[in-house]
Amino acid sequence: MKFEDIRNIAMIGSGTMGAGMSWCFAHAGYNVKLYDVNPHQLERACTRIEAIQKLFVQEDLILVEAARAARKRITTTTHLEESLTGVQYVLEAAPERLPLKQQLFLQFEECCPADAILATNTSGLRITDIASVCQHPERVGGMHWANPPEIVPLVEVIRGERTSDTTVDAIYKVTEKLGKMPVVVNKDIPGFVSNRLQYAVLREALHLVETGVISAQDVDCTLKCGVGFRYPWLGPLETVDLGGVDVFYGISQYLLKELSNMSAPPEFFGKLVQEGKLGIKSGQGFYDYGRVSQEEVLRKRDLYFIRQLKLIREVQAS
Ligand SMILES: NC(=O)c1ccc[n+]([C@@H]2O[C@H](COP(=O)([O-])OP(=O)(O)OC[C@H]3O[C@@H](n4cnc5c(N)ncnc54)[C@H](O)[C@@H]3O)[C@@H](O)[C@H]2O)c1
Repeated sequence: MKFEDIRNIAMIGSGTMGAGMSWCFAHAGYNVKLYDVNPHQLERACTRIEAIQKLFVQEDLILVEAARAARKRITTTTHLEESLTGVQYVLEAAPERLPLKQQLFLQFEECCPADAILATNTSGLRITDIASVCQHPERVGGMHWANPPEIVPLVEVIRGERTSDTTVDAIYKVTEKLGKMPVVVNKDIPGFVSNRLQYAVLREALHLVETGVISAQDVDCTLKCGVGFRYPWLGPLETVDLGGVDVFYGISQYLLKELSNMSAPPEFFGKLVQEGKLGIKSGQGFYDYGRVSQEEVLRKRDLYFIRQLKLIREVQAS
């Protein structure tokens, strides 16, 4: 399937990720058939898509008329076969269970046109394992977004062991057309790249809190106001170049061996789960959210992220 011929998309799963990703495809001019086994989830997804539409208009990311037209390009269905008929591109965003995803990919092969691109938004399952049930694993590839998908620019394009160059190329170009930032992950490794980086930082943060070096609040502040403050503009390797390769090499020689290498989550982390302190969804996690609702926390986060997105776009355009 050539990128230029892609018009119709099937989005499989309409949860946290499926709703926002559907909006991005529709915004870029694609027709989206959004499928879910659960009709209530589809209703919730429509409400979520309308909220995104409103936010994008309010924040001047899209004009009112264009937003209305984009919304009309999304249709919903609870019939899998109907969602797959006549599409050139499928993006699977169903729950993170290998047998479920394999079953879905078998059905994609049965019902989609023979040359359709079959992509998965899996967070960590191997693309190769998902595609192992397919007769044509060369057309299966990873398209891993970050939450909230309608705002965060990164999309990892993952090459499974049998993914063809044509498939990688098509996923990459579609990602660009969506106005996102694609990176190609050439090896099908657990966590791909973005989650490996995220969890490397999380492991050290958990270790520092567990050993009493710093409080949860201050470790977050250290990242947000120091190291992380630079991250939207300078990656870790650019930071080395600016600070001096020799300087960072010298520090690496004595510091790397001091860093946490724990291979299981620490006890206090598991205890939060046992106590039902699951973060904003239960009102308490590392922090106590008191009476502030989940919606309010997410609304503030989205507004903050949109400001950052606008700034990045402004700098890139200048
Ligand atoms: N939430 C995140 O931050 C995030 C980020 C990146 C990737 N992902 C990945 O994206 C995928 C979806 O995650 P999510 O957070 O949107 O999950 P979610 O639980 O919010 O949504 C999953 C949806 O799939 C539906 N579903 C269940 N069985 C189905 C089936 N057989 N066919 C079609 N739909 C079915 C559910 O009804 C639900 O609406 C997972 O693989 C996840 O690992 C999630």
